[in-house]
Amino acid sequence: MRTDTPQPIRLSDYRPPAFLIDEAHLAFDLKPNTTRVKAKLAVRRNGDHAGPLRFNGERLKLISAAIDGRRLGDQEFAVDDEFLTIANVPDAFTLETEVEIDPENNKALEGLYMSGGRFCTQCEAEGFRKITYWPDRPDVLSRFTVRLEGPKSLSRLLSNGNLIEAGELPGGRHYAVWNDPFPKPCYLFALVAGELDMLEDQLVTMSGRTVALRIYVDPGMAPRAAYAMDALKRSMTWDEEAYGREYDLDLFMIVAVRDFNFGAMENKGLNIFNSSLLLADPATATDADYERIESVVAHEYFHNWTGDRITCRDWFQLCLKEGLTVYRDQGFSADMRGHAVQRIKDVKALRARQFAEDQGPLAHPVRPSSYLKIDNFYTATIYEKGSEVIRMLRTLIGPDAFRTGMDLYFDRWDGHATTVEEFVRCFAEASGQDLTHFFAWYEQAGTPRVALKQAYDAKAQTLTLELSQRTPPTPGQGQKRPLPIPVVVGLLDQDGRPLAFERDGETIEETVIVLTQPSATVTLHKVAREPAVSALRGFSAPVVLETDAEAKDRYIQLAADPDLFNRWEAGQTLARELILARAAGQPDEVGEERYATALGRSLSDQAAEPAFKALLMALPSEPDLALALQPADPAAIHEAREALLMRLSVHLEPELRRLHTGLQDIGEFSPDAAGAGRRALRNAALELLAANPRSDNVDMASGHFEAAANMTDAMGGLNALMQMGGERYEQALAAFYERWKGEPLVIDKWFSIQARDPSETALGRVMGLTTHPAFESKNPNRLRALVSSFANFNPARFHDPSGAGYRFLADQILAVDRFNPMTAARLVDPLDGWRRYKPELGALMKAELERIAAAEDLSKNVLEKVSRALEG
Ligand code: TRP
Ligand code: ZN
Repeated sequence: MRTDTPQPIRLSDYRPPAFLIDEAHLAFDLKPNTTRVKAKLAVRRNGDHAGPLRFNGERLKLISAAIDGRRLGDQEFAVDDEFLTIANVPDAFTLETEVEIDPENNKALEGLYMSGGRFCTQCEAEGFRKITYWPDRPDVLSRFTVRLEGPKSLSRLLSNGNLIEAGELPGGRHYAVWNDPFPKPCYLFALVAGELDMLEDQLVTMSGRTVALRIYVDPGMAPRAAYAMDALKRSMTWDEEAYGREYDLDLFMIVAVRDFNFGAMENKGLNIFNSSLLLADPATATDADYERIESVVAHEYFHNWTGDRITCRDWFQLCLKEGLTVYRDQGFSADMRGHAVQRIKDVKALRARQFAEDQGPLAHPVRPSSYLKIDNFYTATIYEKGSEVIRMLRTLIGPDAFRTGMDLYFDRWDGHATTVEEFVRCFAEASGQDLTHFFAWYEQAGTPRVALKQAYDAKAQTLTLELSQRTPPTPGQGQKRPLPIPVVVGLLDQDGRPLAFERDGETIEETVIVLTQPSATVTLHKVAREPAVSALRGFSAPVVLETDAEAKDRYIQLAADPDLFNRWEAGQTLARELILARAAGQPDEVGEERYATALGRSLSDQAAEPAFKALLMALPSEPDLALALQPADPAAIHEAREALLMRLSVHLEPELRRLHTGLQDIGEFSPDAAGAGRRALRNAALELLAANPRSDNVDMASGHFEAAANMTDAMGGLNALMQMGGERYEQALAAFYERWKGEPLVIDKWFSIQARDPSETALGRVMGLTTHPAFESKNPNRLRALVSSFANFNPARFHDPSGAGYRFLADQILAVDRFNPMTAARLVDPLDGWRRYKPELGALMKAELERIAAAEDLSKNVLEKVSRALEG
């Protein structure tokens, strides 16, 4: 166990920077092991800050330092593992430094590193300090001019902003100089150098300017960037229409790299993407990949305003850019792909990741107040709950005041680094509402539980709704305040028709009840008949709703709720109750038949979209069910869920076969929402059939796999075969590998599907795959395809009663932490909910966390995760 406890960084300790850098000239001489970086910085003391200059710098070999042209002697500065300190500096001066770095051996993938022979950077959150000495914090905004020099084999030399000069040098070398006119924090700096192909296009903006758009990819891959380019153009136009935001430089570039810790990065004018979120064609990418590409391209592009032009004062404000940008990309995806379907997918993701986080020891507020490593706070809470909070804000103040508030935010804070308080202040001003109370959503962790009781009085024709809220304690926050919770409510009669009612003298079909107190009672009038209550429509707040509604009301909703989110939700609630009853040893066979019949009716509803039906057909996931069962018993949940799937499969067989035949793709592949929806429904039908491993279903899946004309169907077939197991699955796996072994992104899928296999032998297979020649733990995509897929999406095998699944994960964490702490720390997540599981399992999970914590030389990233998981 380590003895030196790292000190947390606290929001309350924020102080403005002591020194600012107005202008920066950086010059890179690019060599794999000995890159030289010269920095010439116009530095100035900020206000009346006294004291020495202290700039961040890690893994840098300092060659020289000079102030105003005078080289500093050894006595005039100090360098340690983290800082360069210069005791005496004037109030304004030029600082010149030269350092040497080793990109080729940088396997942490932050700072300057190499991927596939190309140089690239990742500086958010604190990677710039591995490139040069700098006050590495987001509130120091500087204008950058960057000179790149290297051999001509590095054919592209790219950085932020505009290319202002380029030319040849003796000895087969060349250079390029880039200038970014917009002041930015160093985390938005980027450079890329290497051999790349380019796909080029252009867009005319709302004010009539022509912007050049360039996507750079591995040689030969340019055709696979076409969809990303299309998504980029749609994003740019959408941001003009929805938010009045126009792009500001004459050039926008995206580069795809294969080795990347996260999805993508919004560096000003030069976004860098994980190639898995950029490259697509029908043969190698699934519809889900296309959908992700569209939303991530939009997300990174939208950061140009929410993140780059307006950035964060400090990293506690991370949700200021991430929550807001997720909110914006979700709005874009909803417009592209349908509001209800998009909302359901977003809520599924929120529940699976954020609700789980809130129930574990790493629960934290949307704006945390302390951290050890900020890298650990790129979480579902910051991103997804951060978006939900903004969505509620809009519901509370209305769309017009929301848009006015956004305009005010852009006007007031353009070119600055700011805080969440200032963001919310813009909406308070725009709406004239006091949002002090609302701010608690940013400061309080945990998922509120909202209880709803309904009482209908036929004589008085009134419906009384009693609402109450309670947020369970989270680590470090024992006492919770009530939050303002918008609950959107509508009524249905027993035939499923919308039922009008009166509230505050107005006749309406839907209303927003804002619960601000621990409890409240609301009476709706002129309710003509006994209603089914459709509450929390559109998932109007990120809470768990507990109602006393009877199953019959849920069936009314499942059949007819005009709010499609709640129509889907009703089905999920029914299914969840049936599975949990089975898991508790009390199967409700009558209920299951009733559910199967109702589902069959919904599936044959001609008016409903295929994409929606596909979602309706999917049962709640095992992790989702585990959250509802305390203590969680993954094996019981798995068995119960499989049993319900089997019943549905048998009951719905004719309908499923009809869907499978009727939805066959005819004509050319189109990745659009309509085509994707049809394929989703057809593959969902196949998956449900595969719950019953009868030989004709094996034949069907095998035929589907062999006939697949695109990756969506190939994976659909392989997935169905995997569910059923056996010789045909093994043959398909082998054929798939043979066909795709030259395509890394497809081989990731090959690893991932095996990791999700719930059969008994899967853990052994997964462990064996770590020695497969195609397994590369240094590539985060490949690592996640195998290890994270197993730990997150195969609960039945990860939670093996022997503890072998946990041990496997812990071994991987320890191995990866040696070279890539950021990625290793993310692998810890599946272990941190240990207290929620059956005591036998929880103890084994805890033992692995303890084993990790006791290891020598653990990174701060992993140390923070495991120690909080053990304390919490
Ligand atoms: N800011 C990136 C986003 O758009 C996230 C990100 C990319 C990131 N790479 C990172 C965060 C490395 C931390 C470290 O969401
Ligand atoms: Zn982002």
